[in-house]
Amino acid sequence: METLNVLVLGGDGIGPEVAEQAVAVLQAVTEEFGIGLNLEEAAIGGVSIDQNGVPVTRQAIDLARSSDAVLLGAVGGAKWDSLPSHRRPERGFLELRDGLSVFANLRPTKLFPMLADASPLRPERARSVDFVIVRELLGDVYFGNPRGVWDECESRKGVNTMVYTEGEIRRIGRTAFEMARRRGKKLASVDKANVLEVQALWRDVISELGSEYPDVTLNHLYVDACAMQLVLDPRRFDVIVTGNLFGDILSDEAAALAGSIGLLPSASIGGSSSLYEPIHGSAPDLVGTGKANPVGAILSVAMLLEYTLGRPDLARVVEQAVESVLDQGLRTADIAGTGAKWVSGSEMGAAIVQQVRLAANAPTWVAQAR
Ligand code: IPM
Ligand code: MN
Repeated sequence: METLNVLVLGGDGIGPEVAEQAVAVLQAVTEEFGIGLNLEEAAIGGVSIDQNGVPVTRQAIDLARSSDAVLLGAVGGAKWDSLPSHRRPERGFLELRDGLSVFANLRPTKLFPMLADASPLRPERARSVDFVIVRELLGDVYFGNPRGVWDECESRKGVNTMVYTEGEIRRIGRTAFEMARRRGKKLASVDKANVLEVQALWRDVISELGSEYPDVTLNHLYVDACAMQLVLDPRRFDVIVTGNLFGDILSDEAAALAGSIGLLPSASIGGSSSLYEPIHGSAPDLVGTGKANPVGAILSVAMLLEYTLGRPDLARVVEQAVESVLDQGLRTADIAGTGAKWVSGSEMGAAIVQQVRLAANAPTWVAQAR
């Protein structure tokens, strides 16, 4: 791929701020390493509701489908909270995921050693936390029908449907087994098979698939037990595979372990284009305070370089740039600790860009380029 076509969807709240820093890093990497970059922008979420009356337009989805990758900020805000669910900013997200057919959401959780103090876990437990949640993204209660709120016998009834087909489970299962194969060869499948039929099917299908991956050690856990184990013994996890709803919840818990939800990236893959976004929300209260941490968005760029561009070496350049600035002691407000000095999100972004450029011009790279 000589030219990377990326659609940037800043979204709401701090979304545009962190996306701006992520784009700056992407520009630095592509410039330094001789890759063409073509950027486009479109609206999603509340800004799209304000501009176009819908949380995402058909044109924006088409633009996303025809680009190599989509870089997203965040969506949502109090202004749009009272809208009916099918018109809320969050629905724009779901339509985009669906429109791109990205069924696998990868959420790596890794604690940077120098941030062990920012984790709520004791340092000896927090150290060496390093796992990936593989979250199914196109099924479950998020997309199941029937759904809605009905008037029934003078009281209202709310309904959502938890549904998975065997094919959907097998598809995400394969992604997770392959991921485990490339990592520590341990897979934990998380379900609620003791109570829900759909979840018993999940366990069945994942077990069957396990026989095709004899080199991967497969474990099944109930979601409640998994939530507890994440706090008690997070080092036991390598790859976790789970459905859409449980994956949503567990990945926020995982993010807290890593010190701050502002640090974690995600990639949604398996479709016509891939979607990269930090896992945090739009945090409207942080807008304009300089407190938004761009690292989650910047590490999402690293994932883009790895999965879309197929350049894990360049992904490592970005990850190492992040690590270097953290090593130098730079901290955004969320990870600074009370009373400690912190830098703004844009200062953090600029420092990471500078590290990327330094690394690109280091003797090892220059030698390899010859
Ligand atoms: C996430 C978010 C989304 C989700 C919302 C904003 C639709 O919480 O990506 O984790 O629930 O999937
Ligand atoms: Mn979430």
